[in-house]
Amino acid sequence: PARTPVVVAIDGPAGSGKSSVSKAAAVALGYAFLDTGAAYRALTWLALERGVPPTDAAAIVGLLHDFHYTTEVHGDTTIVRVADGARASVDVTEAIREPRVTAAVSDIARIAEVRIALNEVFRRLIRRTDRPGIVVEGRDITTVVAPDAEVRILLTAAEEVRIARRSAELSPGAASTASQLRERDRRDAQVVDFLTAAPGVTTIDSTELDFGQTVQAVVELVRATTSPH
Ligand code: DC
Repeated sequence: PARTPVVVAIDGPAGSGKSSVSKAAAVALGYAFLDTGAAYRALTWLALERGVPPTDAAAIVGLLHDFHYTTEVHGDTTIVRVADGARASVDVTEAIREPRVTAAVSDIARIAEVRIALNEVFRRLIRRTDRPGIVVEGRDITTVVAPDAEVRILLTAAEEVRIARRSAELSPGAASTASQLRERDRRDAQVVDFLTAAPGVTTIDSTELDFGQTVQAVVELVRATTSPH
């Protein structure tokens, strides 16, 4: 009989290292990887391209009909494409990380109809995985998208550490990084609570761990949960 893929759900705040840790854990396990934030970012990119204000919920919901989002994995990079209505599909892998997208994405992510529509896309992608499992990363994966996942993790780190990691990987100006990260977390936390672990969710605090140790902690938890007894 066809086995359903093992789902590893990982939530956490901005700068917790979630994306890179989830991706590396997926590679180590031979699982697929789904970055749900990238879909929110891709829709935000489309809104900015079309000049639709991110706070205009009705117009953003209208945009969903035109939003065709695909990802392709090449080695350790995931190419994100958006088919922009009349135009052919556009590679937005880099554009979705631009500061203008990061600044607007929380407004789009707070629209309930957007969340419902994207959650359907995520659940379909999870079901269609051709690997034995999939690591799914976001803010509400353990609670809303895949609450029955075999492995559910809240990946956290102390705020100073998250800000330091973000500034190291992004632009100069740690002060503005710090205030932007705090502001985005504050706004995102109004929509979904990703700072406290729901019942049954294992917290992995990476404050005192380096990258490799954090990946190892995730991989070990998955192996311990899924290995036959
Ligand atoms: O993880 P990220 O920074 O790429 O996510 C971008 C935004 O998308 C983030 O500010 C909050 C939102 N998001 C969400 O609301 N729910 C998710 N499952 C993933 C992301």
